[in-house]
Amino acid sequence: ICLCYGICICLFNLTSATGIGVSHRAADARTTSAPTTPVPYKSPGPYLVEYPYRYHFIINEPTKCQQQKPFVVLVVPVAPHNRADRDIIRRTWGSESSALDKVVTLVFLLGLRSGEEAEKIQDQLLEESKEHGDLIQSNFLDCYKNLTIKTMVMLEWLDAYCPSAAYAMKIDSDMFLNVPNLVRMLADAPRTNYFTGLVTKSGLVLRDPKSKWYIPAEIYPEPVYPPYALGLGYVVSLDLQKKLVEASSHVLPIYIEDVFLGMCMKNLGIPLTEPPKWNYFNVLPVSYSRCAYSKLVATTTHQHADRVKDWEDFKKPGPYC
Ligand SMILES: *[C@@H]1O[C@H](CO)[C@@H](O)[C@H](O)[C@H]1NC(C)=O
Repeated sequence: ICLCYGICICLFNLTSATGIGVSHRAADARTTSAPTTPVPYKSPGPYLVEYPYRYHFIINEPTKCQQQKPFVVLVVPVAPHNRADRDIIRRTWGSESSALDKVVTLVFLLGLRSGEEAEKIQDQLLEESKEHGDLIQSNFLDCYKNLTIKTMVMLEWLDAYCPSAAYAMKIDSDMFLNVPNLVRMLADAPRTNYFTGLVTKSGLVLRDPKSKWYIPAEIYPEPVYPPYALGLGYVVSLDLQKKLVEASSHVLPIYIEDVFLGMCMKNLGIPLTEPPKWNYFNVLPVSYSRCAYSKLVATTTHQHADRVKDWEDFKKPGPYC
């Protein structure tokens, strides 16, 4: 299946996945071969992703957490070519490196760009990484259908390089984040088994093949998903990264990343936590006003909003409301 920028590449040889997971794919491979016999590549199909798998990092910041000792790590998944969103975030809420005396660290997480532009974009990324030191890149193909891989690679990265941070937040690149409100919320939050965001308890499985999030009944027969936090922005305590990576090998790796994490949480038997206020996380864009943005943690922004201008206004001294 070729959905990423119209390019199809088979990078996989399932023998290497043998033994990592107990998903059906690994199980298939396990019954067929000794390690030396190559097993023909088998695509997981359009609704599942290549995970677990040993991806590795091409661009990394292995000592960033060690040096900064953050309380919370912000991870922004973003497409390799989307420099525009990264620059907006760096100029706005991404510039807040502390709040309430607690350190906040920001990294962007990318996969590989494929196709004609790949080489040029990779060179630009190396430059950008030199300049800003905030890019993490792994060697899976970056596209919408691979977001579950991105999320799991994020958890692997946090486990490997930020084990002492208290929390991580995954936040999409089109969001506004009120960093002090986030830190204030987390200062009073549990330090373990904590997963919060915009929690939905009755997410319907979409059965219309035209839907962006279509999943056929053969893949997932139940009509609703287990509770999950919408992918726009969610927070995990950093004891969960290990548990989620471990659980992920027992769960069908569907491509909808937030639903997948909900399934992993169900597998772990750990309930999600509602945020202390219902309006902290917003999927429908809240229009900018100092007052409105002073009361929330995260909101989707309007596509044509001038996020830098709004930020400059938001940072002006004086009362918010
Ligand atoms: C997802 O990434 C994997 C690993 O790079 C790749 O084999 C697969 O083709 C990608 N998926 C899509 C839909 O391109």
